[in-house]
Amino acid sequence: MEHKKIKWGIIGTGRIAKVFATALQVVENSELHAVGSRNIESARQFSSTFNPAKAYGSYEELVNDPEIDVVYVATPHNLHLENALLALDHNKHVLCEKPMGVNLKEATILIEKAKEKNLFLMEALWSRFLPNIIKTKELIDAGEIGDVKLMTVFFSFKSNNGPEHRHFNPDLCGGTILDIGIYNIFLALYLFGKPQQISAIAGLSEQGVDTTSSYTIKYKDDKLAVMYSSFQANSPVVAEIHGTKGKISLEDRWFCPGRVRLNYPDETEKIFDFEVKGNGYECEAEEVANCIRVGKTQSDLWSWYNNLELFTVMDAIRNECGVVYPAHD
Ligand SMILES: NC(=O)c1ccc[n+]([C@@H]2O[C@H](COP(=O)([O-])OP(=O)(O)OC[C@H]3O[C@@H](n4cnc5c(N)ncnc54)[C@H](OP(=O)(O)O)[C@@H]3O)[C@@H](O)[C@H]2O)c1
Repeated sequence: MEHKKIKWGIIGTGRIAKVFATALQVVENSELHAVGSRNIESARQFSSTFNPAKAYGSYEELVNDPEIDVVYVATPHNLHLENALLALDHNKHVLCEKPMGVNLKEATILIEKAKEKNLFLMEALWSRFLPNIIKTKELIDAGEIGDVKLMTVFFSFKSNNGPEHRHFNPDLCGGTILDIGIYNIFLALYLFGKPQQISAIAGLSEQGVDTTSSYTIKYKDDKLAVMYSSFQANSPVVAEIHGTKGKISLEDRWFCPGRVRLNYPDETEKIFDFEVKGNGYECEAEEVANCIRVGKTQSDLWSWYNNLELFTVMDAIRNECGVVYPAHD
């Protein structure tokens, strides 16, 4: 039997909204129905690229479109709570860009709203749905590298944006921890589980957001996940997981679709390559559409519990680094 396609609406017309709309073009069970912007011209320009999406000059108009099933929130961090609540209140399922809110408190409000409305809600942590990341977890769980002892995970690039940009703007809840550190912390939680102890240090801008941060999570049996995130330098964006029998490497831009390399002390190597249909964002979109079709309110792959656990760690790291967003904390 042929199923109706899930109709998507997008809030915001920025960089990631375009990347996601491109991905939707290869998702069989979905179609882009409309886009909403603060500026109708921006919405029209977006919709002309992703024809035949409708263009709305406000987020309110978008969420009032009765044909939309699910809204993808692609605005700066400070607006995630407000925009996702707007969509849920209008009975739309929601995929919210990372982070889903700014802290544990905001994520909890969203989850409570989704529960109350019996609607699907998920944080757009796209790496969780990528085959290289899933394979890494399978290899570890299968004991391919023995007892895991250490993980190093880095995400750093030189941001040439000014202080008004969402990378650095405290009003938009900028800073590396929420923006890119979230991927490092996700990987540590996904592969190693619940932390025992967290230690963190950061360099803050004059405006008070972290421009370089380093954080380490300790697990039982003295297992460590050592991480940094920075907008100050173009250093390799790689992840390595070391065990008693070997090492797994995720190559540069580890959080994107890519290769998994398995190395053993006797110098043997196994390489795993994966095909993705589009730019990789289709994997999370497919999961959302599949969940909505069967009436699920959360994904088993990136659940509400996973999201709350992630925020518990991010809040602790931000607290230790002294990164505060007065309108939210
Ligand atoms: N998953 C990923 O790989 C990935 C990558 C990059 C970013 N992100 C996440 O996606 C979100 C957006 O990032 P982005 O890089 O797409 O940002 P962006 O290019 O600045 O776009 C953000 C959009 O939000 C809307 N917006 C509403 N109020 C705004 C304000 N006060 N200032 C700026 N924009 C405002 C604007 O759309 P309108 O003018 O049309 O309303 C703008 O185009 C963030 O949460 C970020 O963490 C995710």
